[in-house]
Amino acid sequence: MALSDKCREFNAWVDSLKAANQFFYLRQMDPAASPVVTMNGRKLIMLGSNNYLGLATHPKVVEATVKAVEEYGTGACSSRVLTGTTSLHNRLERKLAEFKGTEAAVVFSTGFMTMMGTISTMTEEGDVVLSDEFNHASIVEGCRLTGAEVKVYKHNDMASLEDELSKCDDSSDRLIVTDGVFSMKGTLGDIPGIKKLADRFGAAIMVDDAHGTGAIGATGRGTLEYFGMEGQADFVCGTFSKSLGTIGGFTASTQEVVSYLKLRSRPFIFSASPPPSSMATVLACLEVMEEEPELMKRLGKNTDFLREGLLDAGFRLEPTVTPILPILIGDEEQTFLMAGGVEDEGVIVNPVVSPAVPKEGSLIRISVMASLGDDELAIALDKLKLVGGKLGLI
Ligand SMILES: Cc1ncc(COP(=O)(O)O)c(C=O)c1O
Repeated sequence: MALSDKCREFNAWVDSLKAANQFFYLRQMDPAASPVVTMNGRKLIMLGSNNYLGLATHPKVVEATVKAVEEYGTGACSSRVLTGTTSLHNRLERKLAEFKGTEAAVVFSTGFMTMMGTISTMTEEGDVVLSDEFNHASIVEGCRLTGAEVKVYKHNDMASLEDELSKCDDSSDRLIVTDGVFSMKGTLGDIPGIKKLADRFGAAIMVDDAHGTGAIGATGRGTLEYFGMEGQADFVCGTFSKSLGTIGGFTASTQEVVSYLKLRSRPFIFSASPPPSSMATVLACLEVMEEEPELMKRLGKNTDFLREGLLDAGFRLEPTVTPILPILIGDEEQTFLMAGGVEDEGVIVNPVVSPAVPKEGSLIRISVMASLGDDELAIALDKLKLVGGKLGLI
């Protein structure tokens, strides 16, 4: 079979999904992270972006980014290890360490590379990685790359984690990895439960706080702040691609760990430095978060408005404390009909089906932004109710 045969078969399957109005991917929308976007010449309200605090379009963030492009050019054009580290990269790493309450931090070019590069570099043959079954794909890839033994425990199930820990060889170093906020359902990792077991079994903890940073905790510092547990994880990782307005990721930890990662992690060493302007974007985002605490409040208010409206209307929601509101549908076809129906009414939401969630767990993932106005929220809620009513979901 020619290499391209599989592409033909796959594309035929994609075409059949398109014909059945079940393909909601790779569509062009401008500008993507805004409260209102244009798609196929129509304006739609965006309830599907991870730009939680609206910082990707905040005037101060845009200004700082443009200024950095003018001063530093568009890219560093080298690995961080060779000639790709600017003062902006170093300043941001110091700022992220302060923000997460650690000694040091290292910036990678994406969140995906952060997880892949940190797990596979920090663990090796003889170690054990314990990973939640619903962890993000970047963690799964890190687990595939490590030489360590990988044990997958049941989602947020402390009895399952305890069982796996108790079966580890006493001589092995153990690392428990969890999402801070599980990206599809918006629920939290059981960090307090994990911490108790980690202390008992002498394991290290890694929290991937991609969706927690700039989304939860009184000042947006993330899941550990939410639980009052700052400083209690050995590795706090995150991404710039949600609340922090651009692309890139980071691991915050001790100075020793960070120095090691910078000279040992292949995704860090053998990939180009993220653009200096992206560093300026994140620095500006963190500054705006400090200067404008009302943004976190606005995000909470917008989320509460939609959550309460949807619950009052009779939708079933997974209980979350994050700006991710998962409407539980169950049936895949109904999920696509709901997403397509609200889109026809002018609102973008994300349908989430297997394999992103279990087969019977299809849902509509709404992600809320602080930059959505009251009118936009009210219209969006009305449209969700209208379509949910027509489909018999409420
Ligand atoms: C939990 C989690 N970790 C890592 C990533 C990867 O981050 P990035 O998109 O910045 O590569 C994501 C992004 O979807 C995520 O949700």
